[in-house]
Amino acid sequence: MRKKIVAGNWKMNLLDMEVINYLVDFNSKKNEIKSDAEVIILPATIYLDTMISMPEWDVKIGAQNCSQFNNGAYTGEMSAAMLSDFDYDKENLHYCLVGHSERRAYFKETNDVFAEKVNRLIENKLKPIYCCGEELTDRKDEKHFSLVKSQIEEGLFHLKEEEIKQVVIAYEPVWAIGTGETASSEQAQEMHAYIRTILTEKYGAETADSISILYGGSCKPDNAKELFSQPDIDGGLIGGASLVVDSFIQIINSF
Ligand code: PGA
Repeated sequence: MRKKIVAGNWKMNLLDMEVINYLVDFNSKKNEIKSDAEVIILPATIYLDTMISMPEWDVKIGAQNCSQFNNGAYTGEMSAAMLSDFDYDKENLHYCLVGHSERRAYFKETNDVFAEKVNRLIENKLKPIYCCGEELTDRKDEKHFSLVKSQIEEGLFHLKEEEIKQVVIAYEPVWAIGTGETASSEQAQEMHAYIRTILTEKYGAETADSISILYGGSCKPDNAKELFSQPDIDGGLIGGASLVVDSFIQIINSF
């Protein structure tokens, strides 16, 4: 059985006291969580330490970005080795986002850069959450399947079978991110099933069936249940709605 996952991508939001208040509030409501989904929070880099140091905190932590390079003169960057080393004695920093559409759009990162980031993460025993998804124009031109296929092929298909099993995929149609516009559960399921088909063609059914594929894009308490009930949707990558403890917990409980 593949893992059910609900991951909160905080993006560049929340300041120090807001992070602390969130964690205290979340911890006080832990017993409201009825689902067995793995919960991940991806804070801004500067708050990773605060999150990791939380006592009695069984939420997994992830970073939002890492460098494609190992080390050296890359001002402003953070390596996968640093992320891995940073958490050496606590062992709950497991994940890192790669390929988010905001990295593609604002920082002009491309599939070949993402392929290198994925490599650095796997070398350092961290799990990439690899994002893919089309723009609205791609969907209107009926290019959404081929576009997502090339994002996955170019970013991930150099991996060996044992390596791809470390990856979580997140399908996030760009037109649904932060817009309030959600893909219908049929549209999302159709793409998730397609992604699983291309994984099957490359790695075989057993491996494809073991990889969690999350949906992201205006996932909220009122649509999460229907999305998560689809056979190929294994959870969500939640932006805006993960910033409010109550709505994040409601989404976690949608399984
Ligand atoms: P959203 O963001 O839930 O605010 O649409 C999702 C994401 O970008 O990961």
